[in-house]
Amino acid sequence: MGSNLARNLASREGNTVAVFNRSYEKTADLIETHPEAGFIPAKDYAEFAASLQTPRTAIIMVKAGRPTDAVIESLLEVFEPGDIIIDGGNALFTDTIRREHAVRETGVHFVGMGVSGGEEGALKGPSLMPGGSDESWITLGPILRSIAAVAEGEPCVTHVGHDGAGHFVKMVHNGIEYADMQLIAEAYDLIRRGTGKTPAEIADVFAEWNTGELESYLIEITAEVLRQVDAATGQPLVDVIVDEAGAKGTGAWTVQTALNLGTPVSGIAEATFARSLSSHREQRDVAGVLPSSAEPLTIDDDAAFIEDVRLALYASKIVAYSQGFDEIRAGAAEYDWNIDLGEIAKIWRGGCIIRAQFLNRITDAYRSGEDLPVLMTAPYFVEALERAQAAWRRVVVAATQSGIPAPAFSSSLAYYDGLRAERLPAALIQGQRDFFGAHTYRRTDKPGTFHTLWSADRSEVEAEDTH
Ligand code: 6PG
Repeated sequence: MGSNLARNLASREGNTVAVFNRSYEKTADLIETHPEAGFIPAKDYAEFAASLQTPRTAIIMVKAGRPTDAVIESLLEVFEPGDIIIDGGNALFTDTIRREHAVRETGVHFVGMGVSGGEEGALKGPSLMPGGSDESWITLGPILRSIAAVAEGEPCVTHVGHDGAGHFVKMVHNGIEYADMQLIAEAYDLIRRGTGKTPAEIADVFAEWNTGELESYLIEITAEVLRQVDAATGQPLVDVIVDEAGAKGTGAWTVQTALNLGTPVSGIAEATFARSLSSHREQRDVAGVLPSSAEPLTIDDDAAFIEDVRLALYASKIVAYSQGFDEIRAGAAEYDWNIDLGEIAKIWRGGCIIRAQFLNRITDAYRSGEDLPVLMTAPYFVEALERAQAAWRRVVVAATQSGIPAPAFSSSLAYYDGLRAERLPAALIQGQRDFFGAHTYRRTDKPGTFHTLWSADRSEVEAEDTH
């Protein structure tokens, strides 16, 4: 990914790129395979710093964690005040905040930057989410605009906010990515088990979906993955791949952070846990003994069922993005970042993994001037949810009755119903909390905080204002 980003930079007019790797062999290899890039090789940090114009800009692309700290330390030995160090890895935003504060003391700027788009995006144009100081953005803006993806004529990069804001937004991007991928996987599973279609036939369904409101990179590549045949066995490749999903941690960070912020990102959480469940083979191996009263999924009208699944996918996807944007809002409030949510939707329209046609609608929603505490209450999404919800419920019922796990579909629907409910059973939870821990509760009919002197004899129960 690092070498692709370097090649992207070198291909833009006016940029000369110096390259440093811990192993010089890697650098020599890159120079040999890409002479067109005109890279300047550096054998050590001093040589690297000496080859850059001031103010220097270095982009670190290493494994997040300790390696990043080690590179920063070495760069600080050779950099001067005013120079800029960018961390383009998937760093935890709290690490970025810590690093930014520490590096700032030296006069050097530290910018944590989310980079999305995988290997290809890095080369052809990624979506870039830089944080850091306003001053560093003045220097970086033109450079980053030159290498970012372009969507509808606009470069997919913006100064997200100070210190860790860029990595925070990239983290949530990945959380949404997890939800989107899980929802697509559930849609595929239901169609396959419900209609008996082959992966190649389902690939056609996804290709067709990609021409409508679901148009997105993930739907597009799903069709390609499903169409792939394994050369060794002649089987659909998806049937040969072990059904245990990996994760590098950004989904878990999104959920952990949301828990700390008190933001319910239940769809993202279910998607993250679904990966964990899949990878616990030792538990799945013994769980076959668990009884099931599930009935086989029988579909009378394949086309109607597929359309229901499409709508359920669309509705659940709206929930995932809505939850993700809620988390960014909550994070911005907590960390005092001035994040323009409409702008974030805009820079995700190109280059990144969750690029999707409907991101334009998210930008419109935030640009409308309406206060939007819940993204999906914007008129466009209300209309879409109205259109989708009967199908959404049918799909969740079908999945439940036939014992097909659809955790992201179901939890998204439960979130939707929970949010719109006039009254929730949380009142009972408050009663329980007050009963065993005197945690107090508020009343619907008067202000104040109350505690009941609970007793087995109800006539003795009374409420008192604890204030
Ligand atoms: C991107 C991706 C990229 C990556 C992550 C997630 O935006 O380009 O999100 O950052 O694929 O490493 O990977 P996991 O699925 O392994 O957590």
